[in-house]
Amino acid sequence: MTPSIFILTGAGISAESGIATFRDEDGLWAKHRVEDVATPEAFERNPALVQNFYNQRRAGLVSVVPNVAHEALARLQRLHKGAVTLVTQNIDDLHERAGAEVIHMHGELIKARCTDCGAVQPWPHDITTESVCMNCKSKNTLRPHIVWFGEMPLFMEEIEQALMEADIFAAIGTSGEVYPAAGFGEIANTCGAHTLELNLKPTRSNMFKQSLEGPASKTVPDWVESILNPAD
Ligand code: NAD
Ligand code: APR
Ligand code: ZN
Repeated sequence: MTPSIFILTGAGISAESGIATFRDEDGLWAKHRVEDVATPEAFERNPALVQNFYNQRRAGLVSVVPNVAHEALARLQRLHKGAVTLVTQNIDDLHERAGAEVIHMHGELIKARCTDCGAVQPWPHDITTESVCMNCKSKNTLRPHIVWFGEMPLFMEEIEQALMEADIFAAIGTSGEVYPAAGFGEIANTCGAHTLELNLKPTRSNMFKQSLEGPASKTVPDWVESILNPAD
């Protein structure tokens, strides 16, 4: 029987592409207070500061490329006969650029959402007060299509369905600090899946049955190889 696989990735899988994580010592939250740039209240209080925070991160995407870990997961999706569901907490587009199908539960940096009509639209450039919604043509109504603290993550029904059906659950490059993603391993465990984490160092949660320590650029290709060509 070909196992179905559920993969959750976090900032750690993009670290070797040069994108800062959130909670490592040189991480994003070391330089910014979450409350100042990643909450609906922050956007209400100072929209220019929040737009600028995400404009800078969006502009930074042009100078980074997917790494071998992103590429290995795209290869797994292409070649593995069982279902492979890839969910990311990341808002970069490196999984897509590596050729993978991915569900973004925290939104996407290269999209904007209109606060008037709700339309989500591709937006690879800066969002400014001059930006016009492609759908309702309103001006200065666009926000980053990002799930901020206090907001509901996206696609949760689809995610939970795939999670409960998974035979293997792998958490890659995530600290497991933020819910609901932090609770996915527990659900997978309860549903009898084999659970493993691939991280520089084991995270605080001892719920994983297996832990592959090391940089994602090493552990992910090795793990994918072990799935596609299992040792007899
Ligand atoms: P949460 O319960 O997932 O996080 C716990 C709380 O931690 C939040 O209320 C947050 O405000 C608080 N917090 C304070 N300092 C923090 C820090 N340095 N790092 C992380 N958290 C810190 O919060 P939530 O309200 O359930 O978040 C909803 C969703 O929004 C979460 O899944 C979160 O990952 C997501 N989010 C995305 C981004 C992004 O830039 N992609 C930024 C923030 C939050
Ligand atoms: N290879 C593997 N893992 C790595 C690497 C690497 N090269 N570099 C860092 N890591 C690991 C760290 O050990 C850490 O466990 O990646 C994890 C990064 O954790 P966080 O910075 O907390 O990022 P993440 O888990 O994605 O945060 C979850 O919180 O702030 C919100 O929405 C934001 O999506 C984010 C969510
Ligand atoms: Zn609109």
